[in-house]
Amino acid sequence: MFESFYGLTRTPFVRDIPTGEMYESVMLDETLGRLEYAAERQLFAVITGDCGTGKTTTIRRFTETLDPARFKSLYLSDSKLTPRHFYKGLLEQLGCEAKFYRGDAKRQLHREIELMRGIHHLQPVVIVDEAHLLDREMLEEVRFLLNFKMDAQSPMALILVGQSELWDRLRLQAYAAIRQRIDLQCKLSHYDRAQVGEYILRHLRYAGAQSDIFSDGAIDDIYQFSSGSARLINKICTHSLLYGAQNKHRIIDDRMVKHVIQGELS
Ligand SMILES: Nc1ncnc2c1ncn2[C@@H]1O[C@H](COP(=O)(O)OP(=O)(O)OP(=O)(O)O)[C@@H](O)[C@H]1O
Ligand SMILES: [Mg+2]
Repeated sequence: MFESFYGLTRTPFVRDIPTGEMYESVMLDETLGRLEYAAERQLFAVITGDCGTGKTTTIRRFTETLDPARFKSLYLSDSKLTPRHFYKGLLEQLGCEAKFYRGDAKRQLHREIELMRGIHHLQPVVIVDEAHLLDREMLEEVRFLLNFKMDAQSPMALILVGQSELWDRLRLQAYAAIRQRIDLQCKLSHYDRAQVGEYILRHLRYAGAQSDIFSDGAIDDIYQFSSGSARLINKICTHSLLYGAQNKHRIIDDRMVKHVIQGELS
């Protein structure tokens, strides 16, 4: 496809970019720092951000850098998560078959976590992605994980990850009990114009590009249309590269980006 035309050895702007090749914004570094702190201290953290701003990718990087001799990460991402699936999902990742009843499964999970901490000296890091989709009952259930030994000690680091409306909900009075227990909060923001340029360059460098492909004007338009959301940048860049290669343009300029956005993406 466009890779050979632009002399690329890998495909840029893909979802599964290796975490070592990610664009490292200040925001990414800060978020990773906070997540590590939450893991170390076994805290309750909440990460929010608009869709496509890189939350799941940040978590992927975080879990890959956790020392497996000290931490055990458990990751759930299920929009229709029910308490039963929640315990089942976590227990499965610990290699256990969950008991049928919710109460039993919950006790079973607490026991497994105690074993993990006491015998294997591993600190659990539970991550629940897409948490903005959880209903109130489910959010309470997740929060109850922390109510271990009557709140005296935290049995795990708990990280809720979700779109910005998660934070809007947690601000409501009905969620005060959860909100009060949050130790750390991070908000991922959209990239600014300079960061969009750096982001594009990073993906192109990963793909092995030898020279610039997008003109400054093109990057201006990509920034405007994407509002600095990584997923949208990926989409516009991929469509532009396809269009550019089909029409044999070595440099992608603003006119081409506009054409792609108007024709294929708006
Ligand atoms: N720092 C980064 N470096 C390189 N690519 C990134 C980075 N952050 C995000 N991306 C890219 O952007 C895409 C969207 O990011 P991601 O899926 O993490 O967003 P999200 O915030 O989890 O979105 P949603 O709210 O829809 O779940 C990823 O597939 C990845 O390709
Ligand atoms: Mg996500």
